[in-house]
Amino acid sequence: MNKTSRLERALHDETSQQLADLFPTADEIPAEFRIDTGGYLPCYLQDGEVRRWEGPLAPVSSPICVRENGTIKRPILASVPAMDESTALAALDAARGAWSNGQGPWPLAHPEARIEAVEAFLSSMSKAKEEIVRLLMWEIGKSLEESRAEVDRTIDYIRMAIEATREACKAEVSSHWAGGIAARVKAAPIGVCLLMGPFNNPVYETYTMLVPALLAGNTAVVKVPKFGVLPHQLFFRCLAESFPKGVVNYIYGGETGEDIAGSLMRTGCVDVLSFIGSSAGAAALVSRHPKPLRLRRILSLGAKNPGLITADADIETAVRECVLGSLGFNGQRCTALKILFVHESVADKFLREFCRGVDALPIGMPWEKGVKITPLPEFDKTVTMAAYVDDALGKGAVVVNSGGGDSSATLFRPAVVYPVAATSELYEKEQVGPVVPVHPYRKDEELLEFVASGDYGQQVSLFSGDPEKTADVVGRLSNLVGRINLNCKCQRGPDVLPFAGRKDSGMTALSVSETLKAFSMPSVIAARSHEGDEGLLLKPHGMAPGGGHGRQPKRPSGC
Ligand code: G3H
Repeated sequence: MNKTSRLERALHDETSQQLADLFPTADEIPAEFRIDTGGYLPCYLQDGEVRRWEGPLAPVSSPICVRENGTIKRPILASVPAMDESTALAALDAARGAWSNGQGPWPLAHPEARIEAVEAFLSSMSKAKEEIVRLLMWEIGKSLEESRAEVDRTIDYIRMAIEATREACKAEVSSHWAGGIAARVKAAPIGVCLLMGPFNNPVYETYTMLVPALLAGNTAVVKVPKFGVLPHQLFFRCLAESFPKGVVNYIYGGETGEDIAGSLMRTGCVDVLSFIGSSAGAAALVSRHPKPLRLRRILSLGAKNPGLITADADIETAVRECVLGSLGFNGQRCTALKILFVHESVADKFLREFCRGVDALPIGMPWEKGVKITPLPEFDKTVTMAAYVDDALGKGAVVVNSGGGDSSATLFRPAVVYPVAATSELYEKEQVGPVVPVHPYRKDEELLEFVASGDYGQQVSLFSGDPEKTADVVGRLSNLVGRINLNCKCQRGPDVLPFAGRKDSGMTALSVSETLKAFSMPSVIAARSHEGDEGLLLKPHGMAPGGGHGRQPKRPSGC
């Protein structure tokens, strides 16, 4: 960062040392939050078996550095497979075998049989909750409170998805009569899914894709996120025992992670790409499918959600929500407020209060009570954040909060940067970290122009006390973004609401019921009939001949 004077440099060194002192020595780690790293052997789940990996390994390191003899080290927690292409392709082959052109026991199983298997999985997740929480803290630096919230919301989501599946089955029993045709509509699975979630919610985002995919009757290959790798291993045994062979398979990235997913796409045998991550990553994967028209895309991608603090906003509310919205999990949420537009008439007042709120956020290790700012998992993330700040400073901005931008190893003190010029990288790029750009504005049109001309279209937070202005801005924004939050932060939940974006933010709506629909397609059974006569339609469907599990399919020859 641009710290030019000697005094500034000395202060910077001093605060960096204070940050360094926040990392624990090995003895200072509370006993209940230590993890038994010896318990994590390199393994993977493929074709119904938990297999020991004998090939090259990729280390899983922790952003929670440990102090030892005056140095700070990033500890290695375990090793996972650095998976090669042929093993990943074998996982795809196993999923194709279980799908078997829709004739496998899982796609033909009755929804209640699928629910039974998912309930077994849910029970294993619930039992492993405290260990998952420990792993989230160690692998992605998420606070204890937020880690628990991630697991709890995943469990709730799975319960709701089970309930929604039961409801959908009941609804399916009702038949339609129209134009002399009696018809019954059922949701049929699509095929083989490749599922990839991000590191910021590695459990929630993975299993809120996998569970609906499975409940709908699809088979899956899950590529684990780049961080938040180990929790998945806790489920392998249960998944192997509860689901037919090949229905769920896991692959790891390792050295050439993106290429491995790309290789799977290139086969043309992936029917559904469900991807939560960067827009560029999704575009690259989609482009590799040789028959893209056959590919169902379930995408939730990048965002640059702005907060608009109007002249008549309640500043206390705006400050509280903007602190939460921009710096929850260190600003690493896809829904984070990634830029604040503040009306110039209230900019001073807002900034004063906002900086006070940011500076009051406790920094420390994830298990510390009340901690809000924690170590960042991505390598060199503090350098990337500092470069964003430097670029804005070079274009006339200042870091307006105390010690903002100071860093040590994986810790970065949040930086509030003001006034951020429209030519700055922070004005346009998605920073995904603890830097909050603030841009003063005069006319609401500036925000509308920012949203309309930008690459993303996920959400906006509008802070205003004027009902007329609110109605006007909401009306205009609703054709530009997926959700407008009034006097509150942007967020995905609650999960009964559609979570969707426009443009490069991805178009798929993800709510419990809509995600189930996204992983299926309507299948109509129709017969010429008169009202009241269902004839053949009375026969139950969705039931595997012989009852579902057990029968092993023949491997299909083509896609
Ligand atoms: O990172 C993207 C998440 O889906 C956002 O979820 O808004 O509930 O934190 P959240």
